[in-house]
Amino acid sequence: ATIAANEDIRRRIRTIPDFPKPGIQFRDITTLLLDGEGLSLTVERMLEQVEGPVDLVAGIEARGFVFAPALALALGAGVLLIRKDGKLPGATIAEDYALEYGTDRITIHADACAPGANVLLVDDLIATGGTARAAVRLLRKAGATVRQAAFVIDLPDLGGAAALRQDNISVTSLVA
Ligand code: PRP
Ligand code: ADE
Repeated sequence: ATIAANEDIRRRIRTIPDFPKPGIQFRDITTLLLDGEGLSLTVERMLEQVEGPVDLVAGIEARGFVFAPALALALGAGVLLIRKDGKLPGATIAEDYALEYGTDRITIHADACAPGANVLLVDDLIATGGTARAAVRLLRKAGATVRQAAFVIDLPDLGGAAALRQDNISVTSLVA
């Protein structure tokens, strides 16, 4: 799908200036989610971009959790929750990363996926790519095969999608 073809999705995303810090143009998907047609169009178009076999859809807390189960249900796949630090009850593995605004740590259960499982990474947005690249490192450390990362929004000026492609990931998005 072309960027122009996703104008119906783009116009449902709200931009809030200076959140959470001065200078950040926050791309707010809550307005897209509130709209039933916007939500279903988003999930349909993300499904059209899925490239290979998928055993598990890995969503990144918190906004990735909205889209991962919708894609997984349609693909007949399971959902793997990539959580912020301190939330998972079992033995975990972790990766640290820098954000556009701050730093953070993500975790998964050490036994979350079988060796070689085909994992599709999903999040709402890629900016610097710090979060998604840490997620790919984490999933690969757990033995997963990760070939694609799917986003609703790419902020290409921040370079995250290009960096992720250097990690041998096919990066797809609906709007830039
Ligand atoms: C946002 C967004 C991505 C990440 C992208 O999440 O949902 O996960 O930032 O930024 P990056 O490409 O520069 O790493 P955030 O950390 O704000 O957490 P939230 O989903 O809990 O709001
Ligand atoms: N995550 C990182 N940068 C963001 C932005 N500009 N808008 C919404 N979420 C973000």
